[in-house]
Amino acid sequence: MEKKTEDRSPTNRAVITGCGSFVPSKILTNEDLARMVDTSDEWINSRTGIKTRHLTSDEESTAYLATEAAKRALQYAGLDAEDLGLIVVATITPEMVFPSTACFVQQALGAKKAWAFDIGAACSGFVYSLHLVHQLIENGRLDSALVIGAETLTKITNWKDRSSCILFGDGAGAVVLQRKQNAGRGILYSTVGADGTFWEALNCQAYGSRHPVSRPLDNPDKVYMQIKGREVYQQAVRRIVDAVTDCLEHCGLTLDDVAMVISHQMNARIIESAAKRLNLPEEKVFINIQNYGNTSAASVPIAFDECVRHSKIKKGDIVIFVAFGAGVTWGANVIEF
Ligand code: UT7
Repeated sequence: MEKKTEDRSPTNRAVITGCGSFVPSKILTNEDLARMVDTSDEWINSRTGIKTRHLTSDEESTAYLATEAAKRALQYAGLDAEDLGLIVVATITPEMVFPSTACFVQQALGAKKAWAFDIGAACSGFVYSLHLVHQLIENGRLDSALVIGAETLTKITNWKDRSSCILFGDGAGAVVLQRKQNAGRGILYSTVGADGTFWEALNCQAYGSRHPVSRPLDNPDKVYMQIKGREVYQQAVRRIVDAVTDCLEHCGLTLDDVAMVISHQMNARIIESAAKRLNLPEEKVFINIQNYGNTSAASVPIAFDECVRHSKIKKGDIVIFVAFGAGVTWGANVIEF
């Protein structure tokens, strides 16, 4: 239920008070993949940095992963689900066409007062969601929210296409945002963008209104994710560099002020190449793609949760989240944790 009155106090801050993540237990290794398609551990690892990824079973759905991550984030924040004002799920692999995955999470958590919706900005979905929720909280329209990135990409993976099936994994990450006054920390700034002219670089075309289930597909592979890896690679590096530079300039920060940059984990080589162009030292760039593969909207909150729980990020640290994905879309957030 949305708040009826606004508290436009300029001291309202959207503070991350909790984080959590969850991945399914089943693991698929590069060696497993080499038995399925013409590839090798050496090729996958040297081109992407990926060693293993987690796979959902038939029974594990996106809402299930999202709910498990959400429970951990709520516990960290010490917040009851009943007190939540909003649930946003960033996903391109929703529970079903409708209702939204967020409504299933709301039901599972018993978050009766929360309104709920999904955001479909692909790998940038979590960063986009933080940007939106930040505005609602700072405007005084909202006291608290759960922002979740949750994906079951292996359910739309073409296991015969070696150029894409090696990349993706399943998982979910969540943060709790709460309105705090005079907190002196929180989300400081976000930058977001999109360029639909590049939609063909990354997509999954069936079954939407352009290719409805009632008409036979001209190409049966349209039920799967399709990517033009090279094109994505080049754009991703440029957009990540530009988004992080925008954050630093807008907030008047130098790299010395930043404790960690958490990029969407799409390819370790893309992240390393962007970090090099930014002159970011290795210890300020977190990479965990070796364990999870590309989990799209879930990758930034999973990485953030891992950093927090292993004390790589501490209270008061400045952290930059940055992402690039289908659409194409991109974005970044500056957080004082
Ligand atoms: O989050 C956004 C979604 N993520 C992406 O879209 C991924 C972005 N792109 C990438 O990560 C990289 O472009 C890939 C990892 C997908 C591909 O790496 P690449 O260095 O760009 O390779 P490539 O596509 O230029 O292919 C090089 C060669 C080709 O063979 P030929 O034509 O040179 O003989 C491919 O057929 O590698 C071949 N190849 C493979 N070989 C072994 C492609 N996939 C594989 C494979 N194993 N799995």
